[in-house]
Amino acid sequence: MKKIISVFLLFALTASLFSSCSSGGDATESETVDFESIKESETETETETETETETETETETETETETETESETVREPVRVAGLTLDKYKVEIEVGSYDMPWVTMTPADADDKSEKWSSDNTAVATVDAYGNIYGVAEGDCTVTVSSVDNPEARADVAVHVKAKPVETAPVTNTPSGNGPEHVGLTYIQGILVVNKTYALPPDYNPGVDPEANAALEEMFAGAAADGYTLWVASGFRSYDTQNWLYNNYVAMDGKAAADTYSARPGHSEHQTGLAFDLNYVYDWFASTPEGIWLANNSWKYGFIIRYQQNKEAITGYKYEPWHVRYIGRDAAKAVYESGLCLEEYLGIDSVYSY
Ligand code: DAL
Ligand code: ZN
Repeated sequence: MKKIISVFLLFALTASLFSSCSSGGDATESETVDFESIKESETETETETETETETETETETETETETETESETVREPVRVAGLTLDKYKVEIEVGSYDMPWVTMTPADADDKSEKWSSDNTAVATVDAYGNIYGVAEGDCTVTVSSVDNPEARADVAVHVKAKPVETAPVTNTPSGNGPEHVGLTYIQGILVVNKTYALPPDYNPGVDPEANAALEEMFAGAAADGYTLWVASGFRSYDTQNWLYNNYVAMDGKAAADTYSARPGHSEHQTGLAFDLNYVYDWFASTPEGIWLANNSWKYGFIIRYQQNKEAITGYKYEPWHVRYIGRDAAKAVYESGLCLEEYLGIDSVYSY
């Protein structure tokens, strides 16, 4: 094919040269009236001919270039035939990335673009470059294929493990060093329940209707942004908390249980104003839902009650899933202050027994 086109173009070039020479000849023949004219004309003709010759040379060069260009245009594309990875298994923590390296064959394939997808974006997502991002604990499969040849593809088995959350040790749990307050204690209009302030055992209000309506609004707001929130644990009676706390003590010992579970009467869940959402695991903080909750819950009247780096003040480990309804104005003020509720209200959270 290349040869045929070259021969054709050579032929075209020769024809064009021939036609240029003929037209020069005509000009000479037409100048036959007087000698001087002829002489001048010959001189001009010579000059013209030289110029034409130069032009012809250029034309030849251009034609050669064109020939090369045309030959490239008709070159058969080199298709991707196969695809391999440097690893077929990836283990990452929630919130971290990894990227398998793709090699497509043959090496001179024209279009080596990649198409990536994850079969479970709740566990891991993948971007157009193959960066696999751990969203939540679990397993899923990430697939890469060639855009040029979708049959050239490979699967990556992805395991996402929990991210170790660094929490400061809870230091204010010794018994018998704080005043005991049992009753309904309101400070700045907020019902306060912590290690210092307890509720009476017979206080059994169920879920607070105003908090519940705000929760539904928040769920709708999250859904509008593409996130799903649900209640893992809502209202808990004194008796339920008693059962739960004692189970944790049996499992982990009292000192450890006191860092993450409230003693009966001391749980915000008994107010009907607190909710644990989605996953009661540290890694929830790094999920899109956990991030959305941290950034938006204040707009609906909720605060993340037990914040990271406030463990020594709240008396509990970081709980990115536990929200407490305190009303929109107070929630906005607490959120904007960057303080935890104890700091904001100027109170302690210390057991007296
Ligand atoms: N986990 C919180 C502190 C509670 O038990 O109420
Ligand atoms: Zn909770």
